[in-house]
Amino acid sequence: MARVLTVLAVVAIGVGIWYACPCQDSPQAPKLDLEEWWGPNELKGKTDSSVRPFQIKFDDALVQDLKSRLKNHRPFTPPLEGIGFEYGFNGKTLETWVKYWADQYPFSEREKFLNQFPQYKTNIQGLDIHFIRVKTQVPQGVQVVPLLLMHGWPGSVREFYEAIPLLTKQREGYDFVFEVIVPSIPGYGFSDGAVRPGLAAPQAAVIFRNLMHRLGFKKFYIQGGDWGALIASCLATLFPDEILGHHSNAAIVQTSGNMLKHILGSFMPSLVVESNLMDRMYPLSKYFSFLLEEMGYMHLQATKPDTVGTSINDSPAGLLAYVLEKFSTWTREEHRSKLDGGLEFRFTKDQLIDNLMIYWTSKSMTTSMRFYAENMSKKTFALKIDEVKTPVPTWALQAKHEIMYNPPSFLKVKYMNLINTTVLDDGGHFFALELPKVFADDVFKAVKAFREWHAKRKSEL
Ligand SMILES: *[C@@H]1O[C@H](CO)[C@@H](O)[C@H](O)[C@H]1NC(C)=O
Ligand SMILES: *[C@@H]1O[C@H](CO)[C@@H](O)[C@H](O)[C@H]1NC(C)=O
Repeated sequence: MARVLTVLAVVAIGVGIWYACPCQDSPQAPKLDLEEWWGPNELKGKTDSSVRPFQIKFDDALVQDLKSRLKNHRPFTPPLEGIGFEYGFNGKTLETWVKYWADQYPFSEREKFLNQFPQYKTNIQGLDIHFIRVKTQVPQGVQVVPLLLMHGWPGSVREFYEAIPLLTKQREGYDFVFEVIVPSIPGYGFSDGAVRPGLAAPQAAVIFRNLMHRLGFKKFYIQGGDWGALIASCLATLFPDEILGHHSNAAIVQTSGNMLKHILGSFMPSLVVESNLMDRMYPLSKYFSFLLEEMGYMHLQATKPDTVGTSINDSPAGLLAYVLEKFSTWTREEHRSKLDGGLEFRFTKDQLIDNLMIYWTSKSMTTSMRFYAENMSKKTFALKIDEVKTPVPTWALQAKHEIMYNPPSFLKVKYMNLINTTVLDDGGHFFALELPKVFADDVFKAVKAFREWHAKRKSEL
């Protein structure tokens, strides 16, 4: 046994050195078709480039139908004795949420709330893409810079509603402020889903880049979490000359070298990660059992999205349980042991139901799930996006309760200009929604550093 282990360790170290060796060239960014058509073929050449105002509508028929479904659900299965969210969304808690949604959620007030920012749709590559765009008026001397904000699953543009006013308001100590563009991922909320296979994170990056061009932004800053973080990473990889800076609250670089380092590091974590952050990566057994316990949804969505999507798209109680279980566990792992899932620890019922309303109204649950199948395809992995280096200045916000953590040495494998990382002792996966002020502060800090970095490079040229 010891011999086998030694041989394994030697092989592993050899492979590790191979991957870490600077003599190994990093692959070139793949060339994607920048005009790939994702809509129905009959529409090809027939769509225009207009940008049309859009508003979210909770019409009466929809609300009546929703309420009747919420009220006419079959009895929920009572939870086991002493069980909170360990088996999934607690049946007793579900009852109170469903009741609230049907009887107390103020539909027309929330509709107004969701329409507080200007929203639009425009057709890109055959798909109507929905987005929020908030412009800012500024006095002389203050520059407005474009920032693309990207959400994830099972979120939506709703994740950014609290942060948008903070990002678009001038603040002391900064000679710039943001104009924000917040699109729905294709197949999410009010953005059309593709009609044929193949639209994964890299292709979504192309669509968002084309959206920014349509709006007149040839160069811009980007921010993302969850899928948004991956799309942001793809943007920084595919369009390094157009992305001025990249802020991520879920920066993960999954090269085979990094995965190997992660595993080898379990023999001596101090080689991989600072001691105060060790518990974010080790013990490996805890990390792997967390993945096994919590990533079942991913396997399902990556393989049979249309099957699992059917019931969730048909039942608001099912939608609520499926989506809000993630808002519970991904915010704080320990909330699994609570009867109420800790859902109201940092979120209100209305905030979370707003997000459900976006999925329900747009009937987009199944198409949102397909994104997993597309991204986990052989074709997407063959692009080797993670292995391609990018010079785009990058800043990682690393919340304590984010699902995965990568130390700076892992991030630098891809992001050659990792400007800084903000390591927080608070916050979870839905960071912009949970701690909007901390989020906005960090984005301002990062973009200030990006601007200084660009200025310094220019003066050195
Ligand atoms: C999604 O695809 C991108 C591009 O190939 C890759 O970097 C990333 O690791 C994939 N992530 C998931 C969760 O499938
Ligand atoms: C990077 O972060 C550290 C710790 O928060 C801070 O002290 C340092 O000033 C930051 N560097 C830049 C370039 O912002």
